[in-house]
Amino acid sequence: QVQAFIFDLDGVITDTAEYHYLAWKQLGGELGIPFDREFNEQLKGVSRMESLERILALGNRQHDFTAEEKEALATKKNEHYKELITKITPADVLPGITEFLRAIRAHGLRIGMASASKNAFVVVDRLGVQEYFDHIVDAATVANSKPHPEVFLRAAEVLGVPAEACIGVEDAEAGVEAIKAAGMFAVGVGTKEAMAKADVVVAGTAELSYEEIVAAFAAHTR
Ligand code: BG6
Ligand code: MG
Repeated sequence: QVQAFIFDLDGVITDTAEYHYLAWKQLGGELGIPFDREFNEQLKGVSRMESLERILALGNRQHDFTAEEKEALATKKNEHYKELITKITPADVLPGITEFLRAIRAHGLRIGMASASKNAFVVVDRLGVQEYFDHIVDAATVANSKPHPEVFLRAAEVLGVPAEACIGVEDAEAGVEAIKAAGMFAVGVGTKEAMAKADVVVAGTAELSYEEIVAAFAAHTR
C-alpha cells in the first residue's frame, strides 16, 4: 500500500531545470567550455559542485583551478541562477502538478520533497506550493548527492513512512537512480531513454495520473 509521494523539485514541480541549464551554459561559455542539452542530462539532479566538476572535466580543465577558484565559479553560476529565479511566480508550476498534488492529498497520502538544490526553499516559496508538502529535504541537510539515495531516505524517514511504501517522482537520471537505490517505486518525467530505470515514465507532468500510478505501484508490489 502506497503511503507517500516524494517529489524532486527542479524539472518536476517547475521548469527550473531549464534555468540551471541556462546558468551553467553561461558559465561554460565564459570558461570556453560549450555544451549542449544532451550533456546537460548528466547535470540534472547533481549537486552544484559535482555539476561544476563534470563541466570542467568535459573541457579537460578540472586541474586548472584551485578549490577556492572552483568555489568562486560555482558561486558565479549560482548568481546567474538566482537572477533567473527572481522571475518565478505561481504561474510557473508545471501543468497538472497542482491537480496531482491535490489528488494525492484527497487520498490521505503524505507528500515530501527531496531536492538537491540549496535554493529549494526560495523556489517553493516563489511558486506558493509549500502548503502541499508535509516536509521538504533540501541539499543543506544531506551529505551525499543524488544518485545516492540519502535525500529520498531522509524524506521518507521524516514523513514516518517506510521506503517501500513511497513513490518518488524525478526528471533526472541521477534522481531515478537515487529513488531505486532507496528501494522506492520510481516515476520518471521525460524521455523513455533518459528515464530508462524508472518504473513508470510519463512524457510530461500533464500526464501524471494518480489512478494510473497507484495502479502501476500495486501491480509492481503484488
Ligand atoms: C538539482 C538540480 O535539483 O539541484 C541541479 O537538478 C542542480 O541541476 C542542483 O545543480 C543543485 O542546485 P543549487 O541550487 O544548490 O545550485
Ligand atoms: Mg530534477
